Amino acid sequence: MERTFVMIKPDGVQRRLVGTIIARFERKGLKLVGLKLLRLTEEKAAQLYSIHRERPFFSELVRFVTSGPVVVMVWEGPGAVAIVRRIIGATDAASAEPGTVRGDFGLSVQMNLVHASDSPMSVARELPLLFSQDELVDYEMADAEWLGRSDE
Ligand code: RTP
Ligand code: MG
Repeated sequence: MERTFVMIKPDGVQRRLVGTIIARFERKGLKLVGLKLLRLTEEKAAQLYSIHRERPFFSELVRFVTSGPVVVMVWEGPGAVAIVRRIIGATDAASAEPGTVRGDFGLSVQMNLVHASDSPMSVARELPLLFSQDELVDYEMADAEWLGRSDE
């Protein structure tokens, strides 16, 4: 089953939106298989965002995502990567669609509340940076047969 890596950024934690954001993924029918609160080291943040190393906003971005605790999560479900990207919305929260996390709660291109892997390849790179295999929990959801889709 497809898994994706998601992180509530320091602005989401400081604004007490952790529960609200998690609820968006839960109510869609995705399954939570990993969850931790932690503070990223500068090194970890730079690794997570290494594709942006040459961008002008890189050092600002690393400073921002290390400025307070974050919540890292792994969500599972058929098509989870694309579904989560749609739920979080466009990068610039000011123009993200209403109904998305960024569109409903943000105003900033940088403080946009949440990160999510943008492809299965990104998941393969990002997820192991924050989770070891034994931190991912394998279990069945009681409502699985009522969600009507499976890719197993
Ligand atoms: P993310 O990686 O965090 O899920 O965000 P994304 O795919 O929607 O956007 P991406 O282009 O990967 O940018 C990564 C994060 O860098 C910050 N950013 N700042 N100041 C700027 O112009 C700027 N552009 C991007 C945002 O926090 C963005 O989410
Ligand atoms: Mg990105």
